[in-house]
Amino acid sequence: MDRRTFLKASVLGAGVATAPMLFLNTGGAFAAPISFNADLKIPPLLEGWGEQNNRVFELSLQNGSSAFVPGYQTPTFGISGAYLGPVIRARKGDRVTISVRNQLEEPSTLHWHGVKLPGEMDGGPHQSIAPGEIWRPEFMIDQPASMQWYHSHAWHRTGEQVFKGLAGLFIIDDDQSDGLGLPNEYGVDDIPLVLQDRSFNRDGSFRYVAGMHQRMAGLLGNVMLVNGTVGPHLHTSKTRTRFRILNGSNARIYNLAFDDQRPFQQIASDGGLLAEPVTLSRIRLAPGERAELVVDIKGGEEVFLQHQPMSVPGGGMMMAMTAGIDAAAFDILRITSSATDSSGLPALPRRLATLPPLPSSPRGVSRQFVLDTQMMVGSTINGKQMNLQRIDHKVVLGEEEMWEFVNRSPMPHPMHIHGVQFRVLSRNGHLPAKNEQGFKDTVLIHADEVVRILASFDHPASSRFPYMFHCHNLEHEDGGMMGQFTVEHLA
Ligand code: C2O
Ligand code: CU
Ligand code: CU
Repeated sequence: MDRRTFLKASVLGAGVATAPMLFLNTGGAFAAPISFNADLKIPPLLEGWGEQNNRVFELSLQNGSSAFVPGYQTPTFGISGAYLGPVIRARKGDRVTISVRNQLEEPSTLHWHGVKLPGEMDGGPHQSIAPGEIWRPEFMIDQPASMQWYHSHAWHRTGEQVFKGLAGLFIIDDDQSDGLGLPNEYGVDDIPLVLQDRSFNRDGSFRYVAGMHQRMAGLLGNVMLVNGTVGPHLHTSKTRTRFRILNGSNARIYNLAFDDQRPFQQIASDGGLLAEPVTLSRIRLAPGERAELVVDIKGGEEVFLQHQPMSVPGGGMMMAMTAGIDAAAFDILRITSSATDSSGLPALPRRLATLPPLPSSPRGVSRQFVLDTQMMVGSTINGKQMNLQRIDHKVVLGEEEMWEFVNRSPMPHPMHIHGVQFRVLSRNGHLPAKNEQGFKDTVLIHADEVVRILASFDHPASSRFPYMFHCHNLEHEDGGMMGQFTVEHLA
């Protein structure tokens, strides 16, 4: 692509970026359809150092420059790298210390999304790290094998800082999952995929705008990045691959499928392994959510992981578009295989994890959260916007609670709760789909939907460092769709 094409294309892309036609690969923003020939970047693993179960990790938030588009440098933020961060890898039972040095020119934070730890270590908006400073949280890994992640949670600047690159993955291992025979050779048959949509200015810099439109719908880009790769290609020499997928986008919702509609098995959700593998041909993933999929791709085959259109309860195509769900398909990742090991592949284990049964009528405290989005006002929870000085809820440490989310707005909201991994009890009174019955920390609430979840609050958070609950559409979050709660012993 020459410079003129790029400029022209960028002008095209400078308008409202919600139309799916603007995606690179469907011809549009960058004029030429992309070829999916770039080697998929695999983020480096960080296993830390230390003795026995003590692991020390060092991260630095820094400025970088990335060549997403040939011939152009994009100023980015990265964590110990130019864009995104390494994969932190630790085991259940480890005592982890992470030193986070802020080498940016602006304050930031690092939040361990989905990791169960005390509020003091959580890295929310109260834990700002000034430029030049180091923050050193220490905590126990106290949850099962799973893929969590970390990202900036800076006050009013989460959307922009994550967009620029302040995010990374956090993989937790345990003995139980090691024994299941799942693909687990990192970068070989165990592949992390961070899905992000971005848009660019004509000089190659990221285009992050948080105007009225974005505060309503969230920021939607027109170029897909996977692990920071534009037009990614993965070549595998194994038939069976496990993909650990994070929707790390600010606002876009994906309905993932393979172009030939081949079935795959979902083995894990946000909080870890499902009770048993669930066979699917598509899976919806909202911002903040993770899913682990196992798929078989035989030698000689070429398949594309795609977004495919999905129907939205209660909303037509227009509504789906405002809501960050594209009405047209687009390619995300090209996969080719030269595997020769396809005969004799064992079936996945029937049992992956033992999950506590879902109670039919939860006891204990229940709370209701009404979600709304209004022109001029912005996004609210129970009519209120986030206030750092206000504690919205007080939960008793060790208690189980039922939280009900009622969506009165015309768009979907992926609601996330800090400090817990919860279970989805119901969607509009019905049992959630099998693949939503495992542990989760983020759940998508469609327009007019009522979703109930059950959570055990077993880590503490004081009023000085409370936990957050919020919409993971980052423009909604920055726009005020967030609240705070403490988890403490009864006084
Ligand atoms: Cu992933 Cu409060 O965030
Ligand atoms: Cu979180
Ligand atoms: Cu929202």
